[in-house]
Amino acid sequence: MAQRVAVCISGRGSNLAALLAALGPDAPAEVVLVISNRAAAGGLETARAHGIATHVLADAGDPAEWLAVLSRHRVDLVVLAGFLALVPAGVVRELAGRMINIHPSLLPSFKGLDTHRRALEAGVRVAGCTVHFVSAEMDAGPIIGQAAVPVLPGDTPDGLAARVLQAEHRLYPRMLALVAANKVSTDGPVVRWQDTGNIEINQTNTLLSP
Ligand code: GRF
Repeated sequence: MAQRVAVCISGRGSNLAALLAALGPDAPAEVVLVISNRAAAGGLETARAHGIATHVLADAGDPAEWLAVLSRHRVDLVVLAGFLALVPAGVVRELAGRMINIHPSLLPSFKGLDTHRRALEAGVRVAGCTVHFVSAEMDAGPIIGQAAVPVLPGDTPDGLAARVLQAEHRLYPRMLALVAANKVSTDGPVVRWQDTGNIEINQTNTLLSP
């Protein structure tokens, strides 16, 4: 049986659209709910167009509201995809190992906001994105997978963001499928891939390069 997934968004929801496009009927995960902290989030329209239930949080900081809606929809896994509010600590605790996030940098570099401008200012030659389990500390949970993209001469923050976003759209569905199929587990701060070695992460990155 597919794991029941809630995707949390705040904006356009291009990662949500990529997940929906990639998860076919035989996928180990099914998106059953889209949660937003903003009624105007464009991704809510995408959800409705797919006939997926939506919930706009009245108070994103209220753990009781979160836990009630997740339980009402019998959600197994929570996927943060451009969700710009803090998930209450009680919800993070309750969903330990069952909540994942995508961050537009190669963590642990460039946690927080404005990652692409900061990456360019630091002069990095390789940028990318990271899918990780959510823990109490922001952008610091165990890393599941990463995709790297080159920084090109003359890159602007917007140009780099667009290139990284394409990699996000390829990485996130694959990592969600691994988590939903119970193929990764956390061992303290490190994620173990159960039927592959860590070397597979590099192979995944190779597959993901344009
Ligand atoms: C993505 O870059 C994601 O990594 C970041 O916010 C952006 C959301 O984009 N956390 P979208 O709403 O999925 O288009």
